[in-house]
Amino acid sequence: MKIGVPKERQADELRVAVSPDTVKKLVGLGFSVTIETGAGAGASFTDDAYKAAGAAIADSARAALGDADVVLKVRAPMANANGENEISQLKSGAIVIAHMSALTNRDAMKAMADAGVTAFAMELLPRITRAQSMDVLSSQSNLSGYKAVLDAAAVFGRAFPMMMTAAGTVPPAKVFIMGAGVAGLQAIATAKRLGAVVTANDVRPAVKEQVESLGGKFLQVDADATANAETAGGYAKEMSEDFQKRQQDVVRQHLTKQDIVITTALIPGRPAPILITEEMVKGMPEGSVIIDLAVEAGGNCALSEFGKTVKKYGVTIVGHANVPARLAQDASTLYAKNLLNFIAPQVKADTKQLAINWDDEIIKGTLVCKDGKLVHPMLTQ
Ligand code: NAI
Repeated sequence: MKIGVPKERQADELRVAVSPDTVKKLVGLGFSVTIETGAGAGASFTDDAYKAAGAAIADSARAALGDADVVLKVRAPMANANGENEISQLKSGAIVIAHMSALTNRDAMKAMADAGVTAFAMELLPRITRAQSMDVLSSQSNLSGYKAVLDAAAVFGRAFPMMMTAAGTVPPAKVFIMGAGVAGLQAIATAKRLGAVVTANDVRPAVKEQVESLGGKFLQVDADATANAETAGGYAKEMSEDFQKRQQDVVRQHLTKQDIVITTALIPGRPAPILITEEMVKGMPEGSVIIDLAVEAGGNCALSEFGKTVKKYGVTIVGHANVPARLAQDASTLYAKNLLNFIAPQVKADTKQLAINWDDEIIKGTLVCKDGKLVHPMLTQ
């Protein structure tokens, strides 16, 4: 069985879907692996490192993809990737595994179905214990949460920790984390390590204890209203207009005293909720900073701009695109491991052939298209 790995072609995408370490393991499982030259450059993995791990290097995407039975990618294949049609380069019957953003990328999913490709969307992985080692959302969000704090520190004109010096005392920075899922919890831990005073909020009730266990203070809006705010899959539900208004009232007050706000709130398949309005930004202290990690889903701050750092009403608002790619080597290493852990159970040890268990909850949960049709319930309903 042949695995093909092309270079990612989206702007700002520095990650790659395999690391030298996972190539070695995939070869051990019985695959032959072909990687487009330079595919790992953004993550500091050289062609030579891949060759040493047992991969062949192809001089173009077409050469890497053309005869691949399995294609590993970071992002969904595109019909127009800087002039290349990645989807038409896939052979019919090929299996593609990537973070597809399937729910907001329907056209590409349909194009893959039409091309006879079998596609798995890693972001749809069920959040069950057995799947934790395959969970790309967690591995990438964790790094984003860490990087968000460093990005804030880089543009903030003050220090994080309290410093008592001969020239006077520097107060600790006040950091507020909105949305304490995987990224938010890592942001809390990182900001605490830097010495900030940290508060956080979320709509899921289980989060309060997690925030407190990391040394943060939880900002409660309405415990009763959030009692049912979590889906069976562990995600947040979209909250009522009334709740959102009350949340804004509590948050508006709190924001007037914060130095740094990191927003991470997401609702799967929906636009991110607006948690900070223009009015609220106006009330924030001069020199404060907002890092909007939800900017790719529309943003949690009404004034954030995708891929840009802007200054509005004295507040620096950072909307970096693709934050995990800002730590491309670690992000690729963990992502590659997630994909390896997804594939390995589907390989038969004796024959070294791929034998996908189509009844497996993990396979069913991630399968987007097969046999020329879109099959995922979230795309067919
Ligand atoms: P996410 O990236 O979908 O959202 C980030 C956070 O924003 C979540 O905590 C969510 O509750 C919060 N949020 C949404 N709307 C909000 C609003 N209006 N105001 C404030 N906060 C809001 O979530 P993530 O990080 O992917 O985690 C989702 C869940 O999955 C969590 O329960 C997490 O513990 C769980 N999980 C389970 C795993 C497993 O068992 N395999 C692995 C990783 C996460």
